[in-house]
Amino acid sequence: MKRIDITAYGAPQEVANCVEVPDVGTPGQGEVVFDVLAFPINPADVSFCRGSYRLRPSLPATPGAECVGRVAAAGAGIAGLRPGDLVVNMQRENWVQRRRIRGEDAIPIPSGLDLAQAAMLRINPATAQLLLEDHVALSPGDWVIQDVANSAVGRHVIALAKARGLRTVNVVRRDDVTAELRALGADVVLKDGPDLAERARTATGGAPIRLGIDAVSGEACRRIADSVGDGGVVVSYGSMSGEDPAIGRAALNTRGVSLTGFNLGRGLAKRTPAKVREIYVDLAHKIGDGVLKAPIDSFYPIEDIKAALIRAQQGGRNGKVLVLPNGPLQ
Ligand SMILES: NC(=O)c1ccc[n+]([C@@H]2O[C@H](COP(=O)([O-])OP(=O)(O)OC[C@H]3O[C@@H](n4cnc5c(N)ncnc54)[C@H](OP(=O)(O)O)[C@@H]3O)[C@@H](O)[C@H]2O)c1
Repeated sequence: MKRIDITAYGAPQEVANCVEVPDVGTPGQGEVVFDVLAFPINPADVSFCRGSYRLRPSLPATPGAECVGRVAAAGAGIAGLRPGDLVVNMQRENWVQRRRIRGEDAIPIPSGLDLAQAAMLRINPATAQLLLEDHVALSPGDWVIQDVANSAVGRHVIALAKARGLRTVNVVRRDDVTAELRALGADVVLKDGPDLAERARTATGGAPIRLGIDAVSGEACRRIADSVGDGGVVVSYGSMSGEDPAIGRAALNTRGVSLTGFNLGRGLAKRTPAKVREIYVDLAHKIGDGVLKAPIDSFYPIEDIKAALIRAQQGGRNGKVLVLPNGPLQ
């Protein structure tokens, strides 16, 4: 079977190779074997290949934080999963044609779910949900500001906020996505810039913004912090700029704004396994209902991983790059 290995840390398209490896074999007691149908290339996967992600395993290593799979075989002691069932894998190393994992790490999802969307279920929808849930007790009518609003997480934040009656100021770096984000339910879309806080204040009519969500980091984080109201909270959850988050003393000390961080693994670890499953069942339904949808830029076969990685690192895309390790989705 085919698997993606990185043999060094560096430019993803240079260090990632599609290699032939032995099959995973049959499932043992409590194990499940599934075929990987699709996986996205997320910013964290790119960082993993570069060696700048929080996990830096010894090499060779297989990337891949998420995927959707179809169960090929279930071992003894596995209840509720049968060949043909769709699953998402809560563990990593998913850039491969086939996985053998512990049954408890395989979360079943409804049959009939759009497979490409299901491949992107594990990380970004849950991240958006927990960003809105875990830091500020928000009530309908409250304002939230976020950057990278055009990202998959950003779009899910817009949709989930809308469903809760929250209002969003969405910060982007290009104007051509404004209409699309408005159609998703964005109340305000602003292009980032030095006067962001002033324009955000005008857009909300002076109503305080209670939560700021930042995944650009660096000076962009400072602008988000300057945009939230006194006593507001800024959550840093990514760094598309590669910089560390900045915050001004006036926001921090004078206005009582606080800066905190978010990581999905930590967010899920605070919840029971039953609650985590409940979250994913709910998010899967929201995908099925069309409430949550991440646009897709392109599909690649696993052999073309280098081209897929080059495309995934190009800005201005309209969606995710997905890899199909076992051929076209059906
Ligand atoms: N902490 C966690 O647990 C967690 C979980 C999931 C995701 N994340 C983070 O969330 C962020 C979004 O992930 P995603 O998968 O939703 O991303 P995505 O769909 O791949 O989109 C990436 C976005 O980043 C924007 N961007 C790229 N470089 C930028 C820069 N230098 N300055 C400003 N914007 C830039 C792109 O803008 P254009 O469209 O204009 O190119 C695009 O909107 C990433 O930083 C990711 O690491 C964190």
